[in-house]
Amino acid sequence: FTDAKEGSAYAASQIAALIREKQSKNEKCVLGLATGSTPKSLYAELVRMHKEEGLSFKNVITFNLDEYYPIEPDAIQSYHRFMKQQLFDKIDIDQSNCHIPDGTTAKENIKQHCSAYEQKIADAGGVDLQVLGIGVNGHIGFNEPGSSVYTKTRLTTLTNSTRLANSYEFANISEVPRLAITMGIGTILKAKKIILMAWGPTKAPVIQQSVEGDDTEHVPASLLQNHDDVTFVIDEMAAAELT
Ligand code: F6R
Repeated sequence: FTDAKEGSAYAASQIAALIREKQSKNEKCVLGLATGSTPKSLYAELVRMHKEEGLSFKNVITFNLDEYYPIEPDAIQSYHRFMKQQLFDKIDIDQSNCHIPDGTTAKENIKQHCSAYEQKIADAGGVDLQVLGIGVNGHIGFNEPGSSVYTKTRLTTLTNSTRLANSYEFANISEVPRLAITMGIGTILKAKKIILMAWGPTKAPVIQQSVEGDDTEHVPASLLQNHDDVTFVIDEMAAAELT
């Protein structure tokens, strides 16, 4: 696509079509959602479709990929707050259907929290459509290089490059949490359909490696080559290094 706006409009149209198809069958639509700068224009478009075209989210259940750890849900940088501001507070979704890993979970309860998160996804019938961004190091969710295809929702350590990339949200890098709770690569690969979005020149090298390189745990997004319904929705700048 020419730019993020056009790419986001395409991704939003795919999501809206799925929501409406499920509505027509009286079924729930289970979406996996991402945060960060990439999906902001997608969420803006979904909000527009809700306000101007009557797109309803009453049948939608969401599971976010990740959350910093530890973090309070109302902290400025928390992904709970991000999702409320960008999407949930602006549409007619039942907020009890919105799931995000809990950054306030006591350390000793994290394993249980993570397996309960996996179970909730399974109980909802699995993710119908997973939205992803991509880190400049190829991470998806907070599955940093080295994460295996078998990983599930878990507590993980952020790399310094990810902490640096995300430090703009914090006063300085030392404030960026060192840990996060993230769905695993295995969790992501179970989604029925996946849309990965990337905009801008900083993503061009990793888009090339993910699409045209070998599938390797060194570039987590390249592991998506093992899924049979993945679409990379990218702008011209992010596509610049594809051959
Ligand atoms: C966020 C997430 C991350 C981001 C990635 C890109 O929920 O899972 O993998 O998608 O770090 O971030 P942005 O979009 O800010 O470039």
